[in-house]
Amino acid sequence: MTTIAGIKVLIVDDLPENLLALSKIIEQDDRIIYQARSGVAALALLLEHEFALAILDVMMPGMDGFELAELMRGTERTRAIPIVFVSAAGKELNHAFKGYETGAVDFLYKPLDIAAVQSKVNVFVAMRRQQDEMTRQVDALEKSQRELLAMKEELRYSLQLRDDFMSMVAHELRTPLNTLLLESQLRGMQLDRGNADAFAPAQLRRMVARDGRQIKSMIRLIDDMVDVSRIRSGKLSIRATEVDLSVLLQQVVSDLEPQADIAGSCITLLATDGICGSWDDFRVEQIIINLLTNALRYGARKPVEVSLATDSGHAIVTVRDHGGGIALEDQQRIFAPFERVGTNTVREGLGLGLYIARQLAEAHGGTLEVASVEGDGALFALSLPMPATGA
Ligand SMILES: Nc1ncnc2c1ncn2[C@@H]1O[C@H](COP(=O)(O)OP(=O)(O)OP(=O)(O)O)[C@@H](O)[C@H]1O
Ligand SMILES: [Mg+2]
Repeated sequence: MTTIAGIKVLIVDDLPENLLALSKIIEQDDRIIYQARSGVAALALLLEHEFALAILDVMMPGMDGFELAELMRGTERTRAIPIVFVSAAGKELNHAFKGYETGAVDFLYKPLDIAAVQSKVNVFVAMRRQQDEMTRQVDALEKSQRELLAMKEELRYSLQLRDDFMSMVAHELRTPLNTLLLESQLRGMQLDRGNADAFAPAQLRRMVARDGRQIKSMIRLIDDMVDVSRIRSGKLSIRATEVDLSVLLQQVVSDLEPQADIAGSCITLLATDGICGSWDDFRVEQIIINLLTNALRYGARKPVEVSLATDSGHAIVTVRDHGGGIALEDQQRIFAPFERVGTNTVREGLGLGLYIARQLAEAHGGTLEVASVEGDGALFALSLPMPATGA
């Protein structure tokens, strides 16, 4: 990370008057000047701050400027800090050589030439600014690259989903359509043969019921398709009205009785009365129907229990079955589109029901969770926020 303002410059000299003079010469709004009166004090500051430049007096009692520079070069954190030595001209030339060896960048000679000092320091500060700006740009570039990659991945996933979707929908529509086509061809043949018996009222009623089921399953498929595309494009909207959930559940359970009969199961409802809230009744019904259809489908012909209660400001609907259950490792996966559990002997749907149901729950500000022990049935819990009471 880089900081835009306040480039830090360290000056080290054992004499306070020198520090004062030097800091007066180089001070400017765009930099912060730190002063140290010994090598040790300088090291402490160096560990704490990120300096753009260190100006070191060569002649200091204790640790001299060159020794300090050597220590700086030997430490990862301070290795790259440019160093300017301040020395008395002529006197310390042999030291100068040593200074260059340790990687020093520049020299200033006493007595200090104010303009020379200022321009040197300005160059280093400007260099640091450029460096910071470059780092910032590289960071920004890397960030947008990461974002681009994430977008690409998202796009790839969307396209994949669309392809999966198209081929599955085509496949799923083909089955009932083929059945209907065969049926109508058969009827055509019967008509050609003048076989009126085939169209007796009882026969006709069965035909109509069969056709109705095929057509309904196609309509459901298309509805699911529309829902998924709404969800994926963020256009799923909730039309909330005042809903009495107990009444809604009674209705759904009684509507599904024939289906439960066919599945060799039955649904019992245990609901607290008068649990009301502001929800989209059509969508809530859809969630419950999805859960109940699953419970009947995967519930091994055993009874299914539905309950309704409230818990900390939420209405909680549970749907419990006693079928094969869902293994822990599959419990999150089943909420993703097209995910079905391979071990399930029943393979009827597209694997969209739970995906849509969870999205609908979340669109209400609620949740849909599963709890299950493999072999011992599954429990799905829908939680919907209720209006705050007494407000
Ligand atoms: N009550 C349950 N018991 C056991 N497995 C379940 C249960 N509910 C769902 N599953 C598993 O989770 C999978 C995903 O369920 P989901 O409702 O999303 O799809 P589906 O029922 O296969 O198809 P669709 O609902 O689109 O007709 C199912 O295929 C099934 O393997
Ligand atoms: Mg389902």
